[in-house]
Amino acid sequence: MKVLVTGGLGYIGSHTCVQLIENGHTPVVMDNLSNSKALVLNRIEALTGQRPSFHLGDVRDEAFLDSIFAQHQIDAVIHFAGLKAVGESVSKPLEYYDNNVNGSLVLARSMRKAGVKNIIFSSSATVYGDPQQVPITEDSPTGATTNPYGRSKYIVEQCLSDLFTAEDDWSITLLRYFNPVGAHPSGTLGEDPQGIPNNLMPFIAQVAVGRRDKLAVFGDDYPTPDGTGVRDYIHVMDLADGHLAALNALTNKSGLHIYNLGTGKGSSVLDMVNAFSAACGHPVAYEIHPRRAGDIAECWASTAKAEQDLGWKATRDIAQMSADTWHWQSNNPQGYDELEK
Ligand code: NAD
Ligand code: UD1
Repeated sequence: MKVLVTGGLGYIGSHTCVQLIENGHTPVVMDNLSNSKALVLNRIEALTGQRPSFHLGDVRDEAFLDSIFAQHQIDAVIHFAGLKAVGESVSKPLEYYDNNVNGSLVLARSMRKAGVKNIIFSSSATVYGDPQQVPITEDSPTGATTNPYGRSKYIVEQCLSDLFTAEDDWSITLLRYFNPVGAHPSGTLGEDPQGIPNNLMPFIAQVAVGRRDKLAVFGDDYPTPDGTGVRDYIHVMDLADGHLAALNALTNKSGLHIYNLGTGKGSSVLDMVNAFSAACGHPVAYEIHPRRAGDIAECWASTAKAEQDLGWKATRDIAQMSADTWHWQSNNPQGYDELEK
């Protein structure tokens, strides 16, 4: 299949491009490079022997999207492009709604014009807010998210669901990711956050490689086994494979489909620190800080629906996630190097 991958040079998009190529698909990448670098194309080519067709531009630019659909016979779209920093979304709500909500609407409009009606959308477990029970199933209540980023994901889910109600020849899949971590096992692709990382795994990796002194553990008084927050960390390669499984199911029939992509297992902050310390061979320094505002105690996915409908299941554990992140971070201590040819 020829697949338009928006945001395809970002963290999850780049790993998904590799897996698409490895499985006989042809990704066509578009990205505005607001949170990624063009040299990721070199890395994808080095891994797969194929350089995807790349279109530099913005998902909010309808004429630009129209021109991509005119140039390529696209079968399906995987829509990763968007902004993702929760804290930044609180201070820049207009930018977040514009990139994430408006960008998705412009994309859907351009797709309709081109007669391309298969789309996979990157949603997030954040749409569940503070869950009433774990594991979280796909029919758990949504919408109680507390920040503009989370609301933008929820709004796009609603928009796409209304679109399907109005035009039932679309095939729309909403994938709710839990906590993506890890890197390609080659150590050449990984997560490269700008500035101080907000998320746990990249922060731990930067402490381990010596870029930061110690991790602040946000709270040890949650009602969890060791008092620290529990999340469902999923390896980015498993996540990429989940997109392949969703893609194969997507084009079989029209419909609106919603899946959690997680492992079904919860790990605490200290579990992650310990797994990473084992992977890198020295202890990762940390100290206990107060809870971070807006954090929930625990959250992990029910994976039954994805297993049953997609035949997909995550296979990599936190030891593997830590080992692959360490391989990436120690090979690329400063992230992607702009000087690289
Ligand atoms: P990322 O920032 O690494 O990748 C997003 C890519 O989109 C970047 O390459 C960026 O340059 C590009 N982009 C952003 N705005 C754009 C625009 N207007 N036009 C064109 N390109 C644009 O993020 P990621 O971690 O790979 O996340 C991919 C998607 O998955 C995002 O929609 C994100 O919200 C969602 N998601 C991520 C996580 C996570 O923890 N990483 C969790 C849940 C959902
Ligand atoms: C965050 C986002 C969420 C998004 C998800 C995707 C927030 C509030 N939520 O979720 O919207 O969908 O990423 O990956 O940002 N922690 C520390 N020290 C740190 C960083 C994190 O102790 O320096 C702890 C947190 O308190 C939490 C766990 O590590 O218990 C995971 O945090 P993080 O990686 O930021 O992910 P989430 O908070 O689950």
